[in-house]
Amino acid sequence: MKKLVEATYLKMNLNLLQKKYLAVTARTVIPVVLIVALLLSAIHLHLLPVSGGIIGAAGLLCLYLIWQGAILEKSRSNTEKALQESAAQYKLLAENSSDVIWTMDLATLRYLYISPSIRHSRGYTPEEAMNISLDKAVTPDSLSRALQVLQEELEKEKDASADPERSRTQDVELYCKDGSTMWAEIRVRFLRDTAGKAVALLGASRNITDRKRAEEQLVQYEKMAALGSLVAGVAHEISTPLGVSITASSFLHDSTKMYAALLEQNELKKSDLEKYMKIAFEAADIIQSNLNRAANLIHSFKQVAVDQSTDEARRFEVKNYLEEILLSLKPKYKRTPHQIHVNCPEEVELCSCPGAFSQIVTNLVMNSLIHGFKDVPQGNIYFDIYRDNTDLLLKYRDDGVGMAPATLKRMYDPFFTTNRQHGGTGLGMHIVYNLVTQKLKGRIQCSSKPGAGVEFQLRIPLKAALCPG
Ligand SMILES: Nc1ncnc2c1ncn2[C@@H]1O[C@H](COP(=O)(O)OP(=O)(O)OP(=O)(O)O)[C@@H](O)[C@H]1O
Ligand SMILES: [Mg+2]
Repeated sequence: MKKLVEATYLKMNLNLLQKKYLAVTARTVIPVVLIVALLLSAIHLHLLPVSGGIIGAAGLLCLYLIWQGAILEKSRSNTEKALQESAAQYKLLAENSSDVIWTMDLATLRYLYISPSIRHSRGYTPEEAMNISLDKAVTPDSLSRALQVLQEELEKEKDASADPERSRTQDVELYCKDGSTMWAEIRVRFLRDTAGKAVALLGASRNITDRKRAEEQLVQYEKMAALGSLVAGVAHEISTPLGVSITASSFLHDSTKMYAALLEQNELKKSDLEKYMKIAFEAADIIQSNLNRAANLIHSFKQVAVDQSTDEARRFEVKNYLEEILLSLKPKYKRTPHQIHVNCPEEVELCSCPGAFSQIVTNLVMNSLIHGFKDVPQGNIYFDIYRDNTDLLLKYRDDGVGMAPATLKRMYDPFFTTNRQHGGTGLGMHIVYNLVTQKLKGRIQCSSKPGAGVEFQLRIPLKAALCPG
């Protein structure tokens, strides 16, 4: 029902009306008292006979009251007209806006009013939509985030200094009548009763489905691009041990051929055999250690690459896994003087999506290397990881150039980059934020100042809901 909105509106206007009446009353009472006092003084000083005074006073009073009554009536009808006009404007706005305007009872969380534009966005009539409970109107993920925001706002209500006019904006996924879903950006604020108590929610929902779809597609492209650069990194990193093994094995092959010829010609001396044995042992050692290194690298890369494409929740040791990710990133920084320091107890385990974890770490490290250490001769990256009850706390820090407040504020915005001229897409931190908050169900905070590096604090539940076992 729009009555609640109208009631709030009316309340504001009635206050104005009351003030006007008070002003008119003051205008009426003060002159009346003055006239009566003047006439009484005239009678008292015998300037007027008593009856003449009384008749004069009554006449003057009547004239004055008629005049004020006319002013009062005009003012009342003006105010009523303004009220009707503003109510009509409100109705016009709500009923003709392409955004869906709605109100919801705070106690029952049921819709009280939904504007007709719901028909275009979700296919329901307002009456149908009002009969749908919240859990049938919103997807479970969006619902739990919306309820969390509501909880936060209700907590703020306990703080007397909280702005009663404040509003919150959030993206939510809603069900449509045809079974599909749509994304809406909703802006919500509290509606209050006469005592100022929050009793309902007033919201405006805007369809942002196209924007969301485009974003999802770009996130997917970004994932694929990350996988591509990972494959390039693998090829580069593995080529060294394989190259060394090939050189050692062909040297062994040539030496074997040479000593075999000596043997065939019965010219092989004991000292030749000893020389050959030495060459064969050394070559076998080199081949073995380099193939081992290549096998280890393939194992780590396989883990990271597979996790990035499938990303099912599984149990993993954080320190080991982090080191595997850093190994896969090694080609990006091994020829620089920058260093990465990891401080994490061996036993800390996370039962969550390792691919998301790996993508978060990769994006943070790449940003430090590209942005943080730009023109920095030697930079350091620190990972401090520990358990805190049921959460994993990950503190990530670099001692690079840091960020200006304007950059810090917009860092998570999709497509925000200070590096577009060198191919930055501005999706990296947006993805990090989404992965931490949505996939890992955690939280992320960043602090930074120009010249003072950056620090990220991530809090991730140790066990994801979908974790096996
Ligand atoms: N460690 C850091 N030090 C300084 N600035 C940073 C750091 N991390 C992020 N930034 C700033 O935040 C912006 C957004 O980062 P984000 O990763 O989203 O985009 P990007 O790195 O520019 O592009 P890409 O999408 O290719 O990652 C960067 O352009 C940079 O200005
Ligand atoms: Mg980046």
